[in-house]
Amino acid sequence: MTTRILAIESSCDETSAAVIEDGKTILSNVVASQIKSHQRFGGVVPELASRHHVEQITYIIEEAMAQAAVSYKDVDAVAVTQGPGLVGALLIGVSAAKAIAYAHQLPLIKVNHIAGHIYAGELTGDMKFPLIALVVSGGHTELIYMEKSNSYELIGETRDDAAGESYDKIGRVIGVPYPGGKRIDEMAQLGSDVYDFPRAMIKEDNYDFSFSGLKSAFINKVHNAEQKGEKLDDIDLAASFQAAAVDVLVDKTLRAVEEYKVDQLIVAGGVAANSGLRKRLESIISERYPNLDLIIPPLSLCGDNAAMIGAAAQILYDQGEFSDYSFNARPGLEL
Ligand code: KG4
Ligand code: ZN
Repeated sequence: MTTRILAIESSCDETSAAVIEDGKTILSNVVASQIKSHQRFGGVVPELASRHHVEQITYIIEEAMAQAAVSYKDVDAVAVTQGPGLVGALLIGVSAAKAIAYAHQLPLIKVNHIAGHIYAGELTGDMKFPLIALVVSGGHTELIYMEKSNSYELIGETRDDAAGESYDKIGRVIGVPYPGGKRIDEMAQLGSDVYDFPRAMIKEDNYDFSFSGLKSAFINKVHNAEQKGEKLDDIDLAASFQAAAVDVLVDKTLRAVEEYKVDQLIVAGGVAANSGLRKRLESIISERYPNLDLIIPPLSLCGDNAAMIGAAAQILYDQGEFSDYSFNARPGLEL
């Protein structure tokens, strides 16, 4: 029997709805980005995000249903991101999901956003356990060990800024519009690693990260040069920053892969789009860990989207983990 799940995601600045079949096949995945509205403020403005979600959500859901060419009779459950994220933003998705589930008498499934990022892996390949997932985005930098499906052990995380957040913040200093990650990555590919930036916590015997020291070192270097009237090369600055960020991400991730003796590595979240990170992982893994299966979702499934929420929801559907209407958005929800 085929299962179709209508999934809704509104945790940050993307309003998204998707219809997913059997947790594997994307019938539709509509994503409305609000980036243009937030850009002039240099970051996501929570109140603005909520308003955009309210305006967009019904259209986005209708569009996802239309693109999938299904009616509610063909849908078996409604899934929604419960958290983590911005509370006002999450609430819009949660309210919409509850309304649709009630109106069409469909089971309701609440999904953790981070689990969603990881289950983008199931839309890309076949998830194999045990696995390590590196979730790197504007809000998260986490290493998660999964012994089996729907079982999560957070083994390391950032102690300060998320990796994407540090990309966005250093981008601002050299005039790159928010969110700067993609542009810095493009610049980095053209430059050389000539400036010496710190690789924080790389030698420490844990799986935690820290990106605020790297960010500050970058900002101080740019400001000191400005004071002295020197001009640094932005392209080389970007390349040097990226080299340091990728070094720590790759080093800690591979240490976790070895220690936990996993069969698969999934890299997910907006920063999984990073070319430096992808290339380094691909080349080291093919050289040194030929038996390790690497899944990095395509760019369209790296950033926030509802398809990944639908894929994660399928596991909960199979286990009969449904929710009643009393659950609320949880901005600090843990895995
Ligand atoms: O997963 P996502 O869409 O939203 C969050 O949940 O945060 O991730 C967005 C983040 C932003 O910080 C953005 O700058 C970063 O991902 N990003 C990148 C790249 N593409 C997006 N960072 C580095 N290199 C990239 N190519
Ligand atoms: Zn995300």
